[in-house]
Amino acid sequence: MAKNEITLPEPRRKSNVSLEEAIAKRRSIRDFKDEAIGIEEVSQLLWSAQGITDNVNKFRTAPSAGALYPLEVYIVIRRVKDLDPGVYKYLPHQHKLVFIKEGDISTKLVREALWQDWIAKSSIIIVISAIFERTTVKYGKRGIQYVYMEAGHSAQNVCLQAVTLGFGTTTVGAFNDEGIKQLLNMKEEEIPIYILPIGIPK
Ligand SMILES: Cc1cc2nc3c(=O)[nH]c(=O)nc-3n(C[C@H](O)[C@H](O)[C@H](O)COP(=O)(O)O)c2cc1C
Repeated sequence: MAKNEITLPEPRRKSNVSLEEAIAKRRSIRDFKDEAIGIEEVSQLLWSAQGITDNVNKFRTAPSAGALYPLEVYIVIRRVKDLDPGVYKYLPHQHKLVFIKEGDISTKLVREALWQDWIAKSSIIIVISAIFERTTVKYGKRGIQYVYMEAGHSAQNVCLQAVTLGFGTTTVGAFNDEGIKQLLNMKEEEIPIYILPIGIPK
């Protein structure tokens, strides 16, 4: 049985891998070992995407135009120790996961990602979506650009964090928006932007 809520362990703020090493090593990786990763690593990756790093102002790991935070972060769990496969949404303020649906949806996700079958070999898949209205309400049409920029900041954090954990990932932009939206039970006004399959490189 999947759990309704999962409190994630506290992310660490120190690493033996320098930022320079992580930048130099980052490469799109599309071949993964069929191995489970730990909940600590899931916690670290989600924190890097959108975790709270300022408890007073509630600012996050990635910059956001007007601090309006249009991004939403999902995780598709395939192989994580002590967790059943399923889909969860990340709540940055509580550093928690909330249950969305049970089961390994990776083959369905492959279909919606234009049959990029290597995606189904990853241990987890992080999906970044956005509610554009949160930003366009203040910045109008220009806000649309801002939201895509922010998804890039968040995804780059995940890419570099993955390197520090010995994992590999690729930023996937080729997919059918409507299909991904339905698969992850996204809201009507929400648009998926990036898919990041993550695993241990082969
Ligand atoms: C916006 C964007 C969309 C991308 N979409 C895909 C994709 O759908 N599938 C894929 O395998 N790689 C995708 N990539 C990864 C690129 O192919 C990759 O970054 C490029 O080949 C350079 O290799 P590197 O990331 O190892 O430096 C995408 C990259 C970006 C920035």
